[in-house]
Amino acid sequence: MDLKAHIRGIADFPKPGILFYDISTLLAHAAAWRAAVSRLAALIRPYEPELLAGIESRGFLVAAPLALELGLGFVMLRKPRKLPGETIGLDYALEYGSDRIEMQADAVAAGKRVVLLDDLLATGGTMAAGVSLLRQAGAVVPATAALIELSFLGGRQRLDTPFESLVAYES
Ligand code: PRP
Ligand code: MG
Repeated sequence: MDLKAHIRGIADFPKPGILFYDISTLLAHAAAWRAAVSRLAALIRPYEPELLAGIESRGFLVAAPLALELGLGFVMLRKPRKLPGETIGLDYALEYGSDRIEMQADAVAAGKRVVLLDDLLATGGTMAAGVSLLRQAGAVVPATAALIELSFLGGRQRLDTPFESLVAYES
């Protein structure tokens, strides 16, 4: 199964000059999506996670089926003010401006091995923030992973964990 054949590049979205890699067509194709989930599960299994975490929004699309595939639970890292109860959060810089992710303070027991998932690694800022937040919550993060990696942005160099991806784009 050629996963790239199921991912569309859409020019000038969300801004002129940006080529957006759209996973809608991958999600809509049962066999391709099945293959993507199976392959990502095989890459992640050796890190022996006890729990997965996914980053809102599109990271949830990856974390939820992988958790079922690996027989694990998963934790949500969400955009601000979405989670009830006591939360912890982290502000992080974007290319223009800043963002924030939050999680429930009691979501991870101390020392749990949590693999963090997102759909796509671009600059790596979101993933790096997620790793920091999980550690703040007491997690050990043996690896991070995404379906897609934009290699030309060098995101994996910003991460201090092993990083796995299924599909890489050089431009
Ligand atoms: C996109 C993508 C990753 C992040 C990658 O999310 O889903 O989460 O950007 O960028 P980075 O590596 O440069 O940090 P986006 O904020 O567009 O929101 P969404 O997942 O809610 O669609
Ligand atoms: Mg995202």
